[in-house]
Amino acid sequence: MTELHPDIDRILITEEEIQNRVAEIAAEIDRDYRNSGQIVLIGILKGAFIFTADLSRKLTVPHSVDFMSISSYGDSAISTGAVRLILDLRKPIVNQHVIVVEDIVDSGNTMSYLYQTLMGRKPASLRTCTLFKKKRNSLDVPLDYIGFELPDVWVVGYGLDYADTHRTLPYIAALKKEVYS
Ligand code: PRP
Repeated sequence: MTELHPDIDRILITEEEIQNRVAEIAAEIDRDYRNSGQIVLIGILKGAFIFTADLSRKLTVPHSVDFMSISSYGDSAISTGAVRLILDLRKPIVNQHVIVVEDIVDSGNTMSYLYQTLMGRKPASLRTCTLFKKKRNSLDVPLDYIGFELPDVWVVGYGLDYADTHRTLPYIAALKKEVYS
């Protein structure tokens, strides 16, 4: 077995499990949108760039891909709830069927901001998709497609980072507590 990076405690979700789940989500979206014409996937940078690419390549419904970038205010691990738009879409989404694609929903602040902002642009429909979701009781935004629930530890890989490292690991791993605390 390949040696794990010294920052990593253990693998939580393997590459095969991720790829199988992405294929299942793509099949679900294919079924839901088979009569909808062209749809738009909006990947949220940076974290969702890998999931968006894999999901897009597994979809058979016609679709275009666009990106937005959102940042939380401040660098603290404790979210204040305030987010700002760093990069906007290339094209309007009015009257389009739109799916927002996130890597992870944690507090839900980012998805909530995206949902309000994109609904204001009058799409024909808006759904949300996230590969990972932290186990929390309440979120004020609907999540239509969810890949996996994760425990409340710092996870990296498949787009998720710690200080911009470990994003390209093909699996999801828990960091050692001493690395981030
Ligand atoms: C991460 C992730 C989501 C957001 C989720 O982005 O990609 O966009 O946090 O957290 P929330 O549900 O508490 O709002 P991050 O700000 O780390 O930026 P990055 O994707 O560029 O790494």
